[in-house]
Amino acid sequence: MQIIDGKATSQKVKDEIAAEVAQIKEKGGKTPHLAAILVGHDGGSETYVAAKIKACEFVGFKSSLVRFEDTVTEEELLAKVEELNNDADVDGFIVQLPLPKHISEEKVTDAVDYRKDVDGFHPQNVGRMSIGSPAFISATPQGIMELIKRYEIETSGKHVVVIGRSNIVGRPMSVLLSQKGYPGDATVTVCHSRTANLNEVCLSADIIIAAIGAPEFVKAEMVKEGAVVIDVGTTRVKSDKTKSGWKLKGDVAYDEVAPKCSWITPVPGGVGPMTIASLLQNTLKAAKNEVY
Ligand code: GUN
Repeated sequence: MQIIDGKATSQKVKDEIAAEVAQIKEKGGKTPHLAAILVGHDGGSETYVAAKIKACEFVGFKSSLVRFEDTVTEEELLAKVEELNNDADVDGFIVQLPLPKHISEEKVTDAVDYRKDVDGFHPQNVGRMSIGSPAFISATPQGIMELIKRYEIETSGKHVVVIGRSNIVGRPMSVLLSQKGYPGDATVTVCHSRTANLNEVCLSADIIIAAIGAPEFVKAEMVKEGAVVIDVGTTRVKSDKTKSGWKLKGDVAYDEVAPKCSWITPVPGGVGPMTIASLLQNTLKAAKNEVY
């Protein structure tokens, strides 16, 4: 069994981006600029946005944080989105989710100029990704694709079982891995809460992508000897063994599954760290007008 090290890989990606940004600046080019809109004070969102801004600083991007209280109206938020759409200095921006209940996430996502949608959530980007056209791909699927590439994991002709059909992970992963070319050319099965005989389906997988958000859902009896297992789960559970009193648990029962795998991503330190690296990659692409 070998470990797919997302922490080290994400650091490599960030180092590569930092080197490229230094070159752009040396040549007198414009510093890539990522903006983030954060509404309210949700603990998880605060942590994610702070990490995104810190990563921008590391690679030499300019970053801006626009904060609103959770009493902000949809109109006010949409006006800010429009302002960022029209701000020539901003290459890409994100609206951190979730938003308060009185604001439609769909409306806000749709209002972002798809050419600045470095989260890859806009229907234009989702649609273009689905037909294999250049698009911003959302952070988690792109991070997984990057890990597969960098670890040279064979996907052609393999049976990939994706557990979970969310718009931001399961569904895009199934599309990307069934596309022509590498990493792709796989035969993909998408499983979900209504799937019959889930254990047997998983047992036939060469690659399992677990993205259901149920801690330790994937057990050893569901995994074929030599399979590759990618764990997207990050559920916070109480723990008396950590300083914070919490620990992250993946969707895979790691201790029993890992010995059967050829490759496996740990939690933490697997897919998670790759998501910020992907956001930075998208922002650099936006700055270089590489997608649109
Ligand atoms: N909330 C949880 N993950 C994400 C993400 O990748 N982007 C945004 N904008 N919000 C999130």
